Amino acid sequence: MADSPLDPAELQRAGLRLDVDGAVATISLARPERRNALTFSTWHTLARIGETLPDTVRVVVVRGDGPSFSAGIDLRLFSPEGVPGEDTSAPRDEAFIAGLQAGYLWLRRPDIVSIAAVQGHAIGGGFQLALACDLRVVADDVKFAMKEPALGIVPDLTGTKPLVDIVGVPRALELCLTTRTVFAEEAARLGLAELVVPAAELDSAVADLVAAILQVRPETAAATKRLIRQAPHNTLEEQAAAERREQVPLLGGPAAAPAAS
Ligand code: ACO
Repeated sequence: MADSPLDPAELQRAGLRLDVDGAVATISLARPERRNALTFSTWHTLARIGETLPDTVRVVVVRGDGPSFSAGIDLRLFSPEGVPGEDTSAPRDEAFIAGLQAGYLWLRRPDIVSIAAVQGHAIGGGFQLALACDLRVVADDVKFAMKEPALGIVPDLTGTKPLVDIVGVPRALELCLTTRTVFAEEAARLGLAELVVPAAELDSAVADLVAAILQVRPETAAATKRLIRQAPHNTLEEQAAAERREQVPLLGGPAAAPAAS
């Protein structure tokens, strides 16, 4: 297994571990004693992982150590004491939030497929991290909850868009405003999980999924992801044109001309 391209001290401060093994990068939330609560450093370092990811990587697995995927934001960040080592002096403006969102947005890049392996609680920012990934494989003890409104804030870590895309507007509104917990059976029914497995089988189920994805040629996987991601926003005719554009280079024909700006 190759070393991480990032400074180990930065990863440790962020509560993260990164293992890169050829085409697969595994990001572990590694503060199980705090149920993998997330800090500003976590989000900033996640963004740095995205920026420095070796271009050999085709699949990114995001997982959590211990009984819970993530209990969301470290609630001490809302207290005057804060979290040791965390700079809490930055103004909480839109630029600040954009810096946190960057930690999640890259997981949608077409050149990678991101998979969240979720066990136990995935709350608030933890739920949004799972939503930031392309696919979710969950243990049968999973507990998703969007708790932000209970704290007087909105979910702002890029989670509202995928949540609505997956469950629709009324259900997303209900989940956010009740802040209730979604258990495994409902998660599967709503499409929040592609696969539900016994907790002991989570790692092997993810490994099987990774192996299956890696069977597809990299350029085909990237083209497929671009194509599928844009489908909800396209008319049938636009999507048919997109299929043609993606297919011709794969058939050895000329690459599509860049769209006029
Ligand atoms: N921030 C800081 N510390 C946390 C957090 C958190 N979000 N979640 C858990 N911890 C700490 C606990 O304080 C506890 O520390 P201690 O051992 O020093 O007392 C330790 O992690 C273990 O937590 P327990 O509550 O004992 O673990 P349990 O497995 O029983 O419960 C659960 C887990 C349900 C996740 C519970 O800890 C919890 O409700 N946490 C808060 C969740 C939350 O409201 N997050 C904010 C969401 S909003 C957002 O993310 C923007």
